Amino acid sequence: MNDVVSDDCVPLKSSLGGQGRIFWLTGFSGAGKTTLALRVAEELRGRGFVPYVLDGDFIRKGLCSDLGFSESDRSENIRRIGEVARLFLDAGLIVIVACISPIKKDRDRVRGLVSAGRFVEVFLDCPLEVCERRDPKGLYRKARREELSDFTGITSLYERPTAPEVHLYTGENGVEACVLEVMKCVEGW
Ligand code: ADX
Repeated sequence: MNDVVSDDCVPLKSSLGGQGRIFWLTGFSGAGKTTLALRVAEELRGRGFVPYVLDGDFIRKGLCSDLGFSESDRSENIRRIGEVARLFLDAGLIVIVACISPIKKDRDRVRGLVSAGRFVEVFLDCPLEVCERRDPKGLYRKARREELSDFTGITSLYERPTAPEVHLYTGENGVEACVLEVMKCVEGW
């Protein structure tokens, strides 16, 4: 492993060590993607890795601000996020993507951009009723009132991953248990 030493002498795992990965967090709105992404990033930083979080909500304010929630716009959203993730991966970062990414072929296309083993699909499997009950942004309520169209799980499709590398049950397990599950992938790097 090629470690470099930062100014404050914490050894950082450099890109030359080939540590780059894309953790691709997929699941309904309210399944806990952003919370988990931020906690995993924190955990990785503590172990000397260099993580970067690409969050759907944030990216839709900039890079993808021209896109809506039709199937073709979501597809383009995932394509752009995937391309950015690939660039960051090339730089040796551990990219943590948090976006609904409801369509399997869009997720698989990103998987196909990178070498085998570099794309780690993490499925946050949370029943729709639980996400709807949590409704942290009040969006489910709006979707039920038909104030919001094409809402995932209500009026827009979500295709469950069929063989995710990590399958998390975020309706019943707390965030720390899920962080531990994800971090198992990092053991032995
Ligand atoms: S994706 O389907 O294209 O992957 P993305 O993760 O970028 O979606 O954005 C989802 C976020 O946009 C949700 O967390 C929610 O805050 C917001 N949002 C607004 N409208 C919708 C909608 N119709 N369906 C899903 N999410 C929506």
